[in-house]
Amino acid sequence: MCGIVCYIGSRPCVDIILQGLTRLEYRGYDSAGIAVHDGEMLKVVRAQGKLVNLGTALEKTPLAGKLGMGHTRWATHGRPSENNAHPHMVNGVAVVHNGILENHLELRREIEQTGATFSSETDTEIFAHLISAALEKNPDLVAAVRQVLSRVTGSYAIAVIAKSDPGRVVVAKNSSPLVIGVGDGETFAASDIPAILKHTNRMVFMEDRELAVLTAEGFSIHEIDGPEITREPKTIEWSATQAEKGGYRHFMLKEIHEQPRVMEDTMRGRVSIEGSGVATELMGLDDLSARRVRRIVLLACGTSYHASLVGKYWLENLAKVPTEVELASEYRARNPLVDPNDLVIPVSQSGETIDTLEAVKVAKEGGASILAIANVLDSAIPRASDGSLYTHAGPEIGVASTKCFTAQLTALFMLAVHLGRRRGVLEKPRARELLEGLLKIPALMREILNDSEHIEELARELASYSNCLYLGRRLLFPIALEGALKLKEIAYIHAEGYAAGEMKHGPIALIDENMPVVVVMPTDSSFNRISGNVQEVLARGGRVIAVGTRGEKTLDALDVKRIEIPACLQELYPILAVIPLQLLAYYVADFKGTDVDQPRNLAKTVTVE
Ligand code: F6R
Repeated sequence: MCGIVCYIGSRPCVDIILQGLTRLEYRGYDSAGIAVHDGEMLKVVRAQGKLVNLGTALEKTPLAGKLGMGHTRWATHGRPSENNAHPHMVNGVAVVHNGILENHLELRREIEQTGATFSSETDTEIFAHLISAALEKNPDLVAAVRQVLSRVTGSYAIAVIAKSDPGRVVVAKNSSPLVIGVGDGETFAASDIPAILKHTNRMVFMEDRELAVLTAEGFSIHEIDGPEITREPKTIEWSATQAEKGGYRHFMLKEIHEQPRVMEDTMRGRVSIEGSGVATELMGLDDLSARRVRRIVLLACGTSYHASLVGKYWLENLAKVPTEVELASEYRARNPLVDPNDLVIPVSQSGETIDTLEAVKVAKEGGASILAIANVLDSAIPRASDGSLYTHAGPEIGVASTKCFTAQLTALFMLAVHLGRRRGVLEKPRARELLEGLLKIPALMREILNDSEHIEELARELASYSNCLYLGRRLLFPIALEGALKLKEIAYIHAEGYAAGEMKHGPIALIDENMPVVVVMPTDSSFNRISGNVQEVLARGGRVIAVGTRGEKTLDALDVKRIEIPACLQELYPILAVIPLQLLAYYVADFKGTDVDQPRNLAKTVTVE
């Protein structure tokens, strides 16, 4: 989830690009860089860390020119470092890239066989090598970019400039965003509107598998392997702040809506339907450890702990490995028994949570193998681990975790299928069915997100209560816990998640007309049991909001308010069912006027004990 800014026109470009990158820093801040064509030479300056470091590097090595491009990086392939910073330059061709290439290992091997050497660990450098090789045969930059794009698979928004072509910037997109800004005698391109909104509000949105050629006079768009396309610019009326949040009121709402795309990124290049498995080399776990593992221990805090609880269910059911889930703060405090055959999996968005990090150290001292599931590349927890499985969700700005939760679930599900296959306990047709089901989830998420007005209405009602219960069974019990946590942390309403079967052992005493109960009850093998629990609540005057499968007839007969989700494989309901609960908490908080993105007393990364 990196940020790209390009400029070609009559003004000096460095400040325009730097200012644009500042507005994109929310997309990543591991390193930054800029390439400028001064009419004769193509020069690159890069720096590790935030943009201020690039500013300092540019003071030492100033650049001048009216054609250039910049990049702010969110690391995916290759740790944050100056060498891995974009632009990548090979023989007078500079490239910036946002996205993930699926066939990069294969292409890298092929390029290395020609004797070429790589100066970074990134997948992006492949573009620079291949384009410069293509230019040796045919000097037309557009033809070279086209030829290379026919060879790569995966997601990309790229911008390319070449020393031999001082009057053009070539950009292309597939699955990663790119917008062209049309000025007066100048043309821009960027990953997102805020980067260029100060200069123009006339924008052209590129679609997947399109390539555009930018000149100072304008632009032309083409299908990557086809004809030119005519597209008129749209006028954007957003303010700069609105634009940063993609037009949403809060980052949290934006991140909730990003989930289908994030899930696709987390799966990208890892799920193979033909092989009915998950690509081993990208799972961070070698084959031997996968077969040998006797017990898994998941370590996490907060929302990541809830994802781990669902993960336990999958790991035990699909991979048949006994699995325990531990709150990291408790684990590290209680002299746990660690076995060298344990596979310990810390799950953490930030990769920096101190309790999880310290718990990892305890497990490591006991001789366990450690596989981190983390979002931030090369953060402390992956660094302390033997292998890492990254979630590729991009920076999460809202303090309440949403997109990283569903990305963690996706990673855990892929891991369970992977282990099940490697250990020989999951049959190929079943693995195939599960992975096909997983690949369908982003489209189903979009259905929920596109039809959320009803949830907003329910939230208006819920906002007047001071308590709320959330119920679920089996792998949806952790989703009840997560729904309750979201309501607590952003709407400041006391909420508790309970396993529905536990109601009669105590909490049912709380039920009356002042106690709303949100029941997560899609149509699965627990449906009849949980319907019974709903009857018990209704009989005591409780008010029920049921999150159920669209078209479920049994719910028609119950006096409940409904939130419908589409049908999917029952194992995958947690990933879908959490979305209405995130939206419900969001809208309640918004009605109450709380500080949704930065709720009181909370920090995004908890690095204090
Ligand atoms: C809740 C939330 C927190 C985090 C927890 C762990 O919305 O975000 O509960 O999940 O602090 O953080 P990470 O995953 O960064 O270790």
